[in-house]
Amino acid sequence: MRVLVIHGPNLNLLGNREPEIYGTQTLDDVNELIATSAADLGLQVRCEQYNGEGQIVDALHAAQATADAIVINPGAYAHYSYAVADAIRSIAVLTIEVHLSNIHARDEFRRTSVTAAACRGTIGGFGPLSYVLALQAIAKILEK
Ligand code: DQA
Repeated sequence: MRVLVIHGPNLNLLGNREPEIYGTQTLDDVNELIATSAADLGLQVRCEQYNGEGQIVDALHAAQATADAIVINPGAYAHYSYAVADAIRSIAVLTIEVHLSNIHARDEFRRTSVTAAACRGTIGGFGPLSYVLALQAIAKILEK
């Protein structure tokens, strides 16, 4: 089973970016954890990062032909991008939204995710473990 992980805007700066919120692990560290966890679960994984909204929409469209499931951290687009939400709805691929931080415990504007409603489910607040939990859910769902 092929899983595409999409990291959204500013996640390329993990490790330096607001470490008190997002931790000190870099995106490479997180991707390594994702790769190890996916291998343990018998999943093939590919990780991509995009800062642009259109790039994420394009990646979602392309995933229709190349992925059996998607894990997406839309970053701030989660809070207002109807284009990303529509793209998730437009493809028939199991998609789980993840966040490193607990978006419900932060600024008011972060408490809404317009993209989450387009996903099968969401996991957030566990740092890089959020991605691992999403992969575990995918492995269970796809094994059926
Ligand atoms: C984030 C939460 C968003 O509110 C923020 O804009 C991000 C990261 C998270 O993973 O916690 O860029 O998606």
